[in-house]
Amino acid sequence: MKRVAILIGGSGSNMVALADSMVGDHPARPVLVLSHRPGAGGLEKAAARGIATAMIDHRAFSDRAGFEAALTAGLEKAAADVICLAGFMRVLTAGFVTRWAGRILNIHPSLLPAYPGLDTHARALAAGDAEAGCTVHEVTADLDSGPILGQARVPIHPGDTPDTLAARVLKMEHRLYPAVLRRFAEGDRRPVFWP
Ligand code: GRF
Repeated sequence: MKRVAILIGGSGSNMVALADSMVGDHPARPVLVLSHRPGAGGLEKAAARGIATAMIDHRAFSDRAGFEAALTAGLEKAAADVICLAGFMRVLTAGFVTRWAGRILNIHPSLLPAYPGLDTHARALAAGDAEAGCTVHEVTADLDSGPILGQARVPIHPGDTPDTLAARVLKMEHRLYPAVLRRFAEGDRRPVFWP
């Protein structure tokens, strides 16, 4: 069994989708949900599922190295094999990424390499794009640009706002991320593209 830690910063809806997928013959189990923000709604949802939780407030650290050392300590204590970032809104340095090389996944709400960073939906709408989507990728030291493990497309409809588009993409995130994690936990890093 692969031991999966899920790092969150917000409502944790992707965390819930991942955690709820790791049952039965799935080759992984959730062992830790860790938030970098106090009060993240996802912590309660994880606790309600019987998953160990931790909160490491990034604001309590004067530098990224100290914050990341605390993260690594928590992940080592949980004996995590795989780390899934799910709404975790901190940039990770090369030091952390090297420590966990090849074991960190992230989901990003755009069709990477388009729109790395923030405000992806507003940027896709402003560009007049006909479709949007989400991407699961391996995390490297370069923001939102590690090898793609999975990508799913959704249409952009006339009249979409950043919020309506975000909701459509998020629903797809909840399908794509568990599917990619399962393949990854089975040792398969070949990317999937939907459709
Ligand atoms: C998702 O859109 C994810 O792609 C982005 O942050 C959001 C997290 O939402 N990185 P949630 O906390 O999983 O509900």
